[in-house]
Amino acid sequence: MSVQLEPNGRLRHLLTTEGLPREMLTRILDTAESFSGVLGKSVKKVPLLRGRTIINLFFEPSTRTRTTFELAAQRLSADVLNIDVATSSTSKGESLLDMLRNLEAMQCDAFVVRHADSGAAEFIARHVRPGVAVINAGDGRHAHPTQALLDAFTIRREKGPLEPLTIAIVGDILHSRVARSQIHALLGLGAGQVRVIAPRTLLPRDIQRLGVRVYEDMDAGLEGADVVMMLRLQRERMRGALLPSESEFFARFGLTEKRLERTHPDSIVMHPGPVNRGVELDPRVADGPRSVILRQVTNGIAVRMAVMSIVLGGYSDATETGLEESPS
Ligand code: CP
Repeated sequence: MSVQLEPNGRLRHLLTTEGLPREMLTRILDTAESFSGVLGKSVKKVPLLRGRTIINLFFEPSTRTRTTFELAAQRLSADVLNIDVATSSTSKGESLLDMLRNLEAMQCDAFVVRHADSGAAEFIARHVRPGVAVINAGDGRHAHPTQALLDAFTIRREKGPLEPLTIAIVGDILHSRVARSQIHALLGLGAGQVRVIAPRTLLPRDIQRLGVRVYEDMDAGLEGADVVMMLRLQRERMRGALLPSESEFFARFGLTEKRLERTHPDSIVMHPGPVNRGVELDPRVADGPRSVILRQVTNGIAVRMAVMSIVLGGYSDATETGLEESPS
């Protein structure tokens, strides 16, 4: 049974993009589109989640995700708390479940969870009391659904409908929760073709079963691509010598201006961050005219507002989100 979807199709938690119906993926992106209008106004707030409490529970470092979740909650007028796990009572031996029970006792409505272990967000979702939502902000190698949704949102804004597009995902596919979530989200939204490009040592076995085309040659994989999504080398998750050296990786799989010439002339370059300049991307590409990397970060606020409003409110469009009340 799905933990995240109720039998009536309501999104109770957001744990993964795998298996999310196209209508729900589209609804999240459309709701984010409504919220992005609010973010351009001088008063960037709507009253939708006034009186609700959202707790950010990050057991792993984060800059973009934690901050944009916090901003998104504030823009929805929710109260938001950031738990510093390093200085919480888990460091005194309190179990994760006891910590949850205590935070729930403070009448919180949602947990945003990042954890190094795959399955951690689902574990928490299975143990929270009814009415409390869990949003996965990245668990181990498994999933990072809001990153994938903000990436799909960015592609749709920059390139239009996904159906005719060829999208290449490049780099450390093996350890990447982002890549897995992107593949499910992009194919679920009807993207024309999704390619993965990586050395064999950084490709999961049977990755083609997800419906992607696999390339071990960067130049061949980039040919005609409309979107190039670079990934970070996840050194912290690597066991053993999977790479000869970072300079050799860059020589074979780094995105340079020369390599970019193989893609469609209007292609865009994306990266979820944090970027390792000179390892995954030439700085001239990262800062160049095709790069939408910082626009991805901005779009993350609207997409996270959309996800929180849907799991906590069941709202779906501009009339229900209170956008019409917001001052210009
Ligand atoms: N893309 C991403 O998850 O970045 P952070 O680790 O900074 O949150």
